[in-house]
Amino acid sequence: MRVTANEIRKMFLGFFTQNGHKEIGNASLVPKNDPTLLIINSGMAPIKSFFTGESIPPNRRLCNIQRCVRTNDIENVGDPHHLTFFEMMGNWSIGDYFKKESIRLSWNLIKDAFGFDISKISVTVFGGDEKIPNVPPDVESMEIWSNFLPDERIVPLGADSNFWGPAGDTGPCGPCTEVFYDRGLEKGCGKSDCGPECECGRFLEIWNAGVFMQYYLHEDGSFSNLPLLSVDAGAGIERFSFALQEASSIYETDVFLPLFQVIGSKINLNEHERSARILADHARTTVFMIADGIFPGKTKREYVLRRIMRRVLLHVNLLGIDSAIFLEIAKATTQSLAHHYPLLIKNNGLTQEIIRSETISFAKVLSKGLREFDKIVFKSDSNVVSGEDAFKLHDTLGFPLELTKEIAESRNMSVNISDYLTLLNEQRNKSRL
Ligand code: SER
Repeated sequence: MRVTANEIRKMFLGFFTQNGHKEIGNASLVPKNDPTLLIINSGMAPIKSFFTGESIPPNRRLCNIQRCVRTNDIENVGDPHHLTFFEMMGNWSIGDYFKKESIRLSWNLIKDAFGFDISKISVTVFGGDEKIPNVPPDVESMEIWSNFLPDERIVPLGADSNFWGPAGDTGPCGPCTEVFYDRGLEKGCGKSDCGPECECGRFLEIWNAGVFMQYYLHEDGSFSNLPLLSVDAGAGIERFSFALQEASSIYETDVFLPLFQVIGSKINLNEHERSARILADHARTTVFMIADGIFPGKTKREYVLRRIMRRVLLHVNLLGIDSAIFLEIAKATTQSLAHHYPLLIKNNGLTQEIIRSETISFAKVLSKGLREFDKIVFKSDSNVVSGEDAFKLHDTLGFPLELTKEIAESRNMSVNISDYLTLLNEQRNKSRL
């Protein structure tokens, strides 16, 4: 019997509590007293003040499961492993253990608690980067890992992959070490140098097994030392499920099963794989954001939610199915996770109401936008939507660029983004005069 997401949840918390970590509650997606961040995007975001020394943790070893939203990879949702909503399993040392114990715990969890096939495990470490010359390569972590893994599976990388944070514009950050699961040669590009840094999908990042929180990044780009040496580690339940269930995508894990039952009853999942994945992921994000009191709107996190909801509605429209599917996927999300998040049940009525009203208001924007788009296609003799046309759709109809891009893609067209941005900036500069 393969391990379920719920079992993963229990095993993770069980392992860390047995190793002296206190389980703490998880926070709302709306950051408290943190102007640097729009939405909680990581397990450490709600407990940043423990790392800076501004508040005292209830224990020096902590763990929990935190709901998170990250939209920086939104364009990649639809591939086998990117999500905008995920549940992050986190463990932390606040001025307690550092690299040695952190890596030892990670190893024990992967090998003994979860029984991963360790011949498929590789790790990455911070190998230095001229972008941050004052942060030395993390030789210590490389040496610690070499007690467990052969050198060729310890890969030093630069700051883009192995320096994490801060969670907002400023704050605690540090070099990190990540664990990758090799899904098999046949899942990848087949190149001889394929490894964790390759984007082909063969190597799945399953765990940021330790951000070695040592620095604070300031607004002017400078670093200072934090008062404590701490560890912030986090793993998405969904990615662990993907690896442990040997699924062919994150969407084929038991996490998504109830949602795909709904979606599969309306569309052919093989023919519309990308749209189906977008519907499932974005509906989950919608449910959690609304349950935490975020409503679709024009700015900040409200706009993030609107963009996500409108993407669902656009795909529903492109698929030619009834928009009521959005409500049904939301209901399936609520039912499948209510056990861990009672607030989903409590706010279910509100969630359904907001989805209904956004569906109605977007239907008007969409039908006007699509009509205009058709006119653009009709008069154009290329397969590129000009920046001017994309800007007009945005400026006169409130049709966001992301939607123009999606529609263009669905018709094998592209959009001249750089011209669009020039026009947008010109308009912004004019309105500042
Ligand atoms: N904060 C780190 C991350 O989000 C580790 O939890 O990857």
